[in-house]
Amino acid sequence: MFRAPKGTFDLVPPRAEAILAVREAMSDAVRRAGFGYVETPSFEDTQLFVRGVGESTDVVTKEMYSFTTRGGDDVTLRPEGTAPVLRAALEGNLHRGSLPVKLWYSGSYYRYERPQKGRYRHFSQVGAEVLGTEDPANDAELIVLAMDGYRSLGLTGVRVVINSLGSEESRPAYRSALQEFLRGLDLDDETAKRAELNPLRVLDDKRPEIQAALTDAPLMSDFLSKSDLDHHDTVRTLLADAGVAFEDDARLVRGLDYYSRTLFEFVHDGLGAAQSAIGGGGRYDGLSELIGGPRLPSVGWALGVERTLLAMEAEGLPLPGETGLDVYAVPLGEEAARQLFGVVTELRRAGIRADLATGGRGLKGAMKAADRSGARLAIVAGERDLSAGVAQLKDLQTGDQRPVPLAELQNTIRTELGGSVQAN
Ligand code: HAM
Repeated sequence: MFRAPKGTFDLVPPRAEAILAVREAMSDAVRRAGFGYVETPSFEDTQLFVRGVGESTDVVTKEMYSFTTRGGDDVTLRPEGTAPVLRAALEGNLHRGSLPVKLWYSGSYYRYERPQKGRYRHFSQVGAEVLGTEDPANDAELIVLAMDGYRSLGLTGVRVVINSLGSEESRPAYRSALQEFLRGLDLDDETAKRAELNPLRVLDDKRPEIQAALTDAPLMSDFLSKSDLDHHDTVRTLLADAGVAFEDDARLVRGLDYYSRTLFEFVHDGLGAAQSAIGGGGRYDGLSELIGGPRLPSVGWALGVERTLLAMEAEGLPLPGETGLDVYAVPLGEEAARQLFGVVTELRRAGIRADLATGGRGLKGAMKAADRSGARLAIVAGERDLSAGVAQLKDLQTGDQRPVPLAELQNTIRTELGGSVQAN
């Protein structure tokens, strides 16, 4: 027997339906705000991620699924969506139209991580990006939209944590100060090397001994320029105006190198510390230039779909279930099977959710299947009913049963189901 590869999982009913509902809730929020849908390939030129995400990040050094194709191209299964979406927007010249360009996406991502609950090698995200804007209103708008998406799922325990990493102008001074501080610590070789290459990465080291050593590290907030501070204050004011509570965390850094200025994470405490981020994002004003494009300041987020579902389970929320059936048809005998096949086809075409027992099952087994299907009504018919031009309509909740002329079946079913069926 084959099994799903390590770190991956299958989505099967009924949980698969819940995942679908999570995706829909999160994408509804951005679609309502005028974001256009974008889809990019599952793999890209490896250099897009090396340059975009950053050579010293864990994602690039340890987690990429990279390979050389038969034609000799170096490609990587996408570990994230921002660099690909920006690449697609630049390639499609979207940035030459009116700005900002607002895009959303939903798909699979791949990271060779150590698998655990909430951390997989294949996972899914819904993401949103606003390209070509320096306005802090877009940073705030994205955070509000994500929180509205979470709230529409019933989640109440999502916290917003924000920070500013400063612009490309104010970061070099901070970088030097941090590097100076890190040189004074007794770090292992790998970490010391990282401190030289990219000191901000060290702040993201989750090991408790490193975090303890960083207690007195200089903070970016002390190095922000006047315009960085103004930008950050406007984001905070707009969030407060929108009624979105947030926490400032001057130590927040994220695992990708392209960020500048606004940085944020959506955190849920029901998932365990290492997986508590159910979403995250920020501003990436320099990414376009890093991947060979013009200057195109932008901001965005991606929400982890599986982690959002885990957060819902942690809160004990009822999971959005299967849509279920309205009607289940039980034919008794071959001729009845042929006729009810036609009846069920017509019901489905009329927008009624219907299924049919197949495989020549006996009455008992087929009625069990009808009960399990969750349908409200069953149609039961044998040769004798059909030669009289009727079928038995059974209410599976009350057990009541009565003959209904075949010609009136659809209307009768519609009446019985009341408001729960929408006509096509
Ligand atoms: P990220 O923080 O790497 O950001 O991923 C976003 C979210 O995806 C995380 O908060 C988490 O919920 C989920 N996630 C990440 N890795 C895994 C995993 N191995 N298993 C399960 N869930 C995972 C980005 O990817 C950026 N592209 C976000 C962004 C968009 N920044 C600007 N625009």
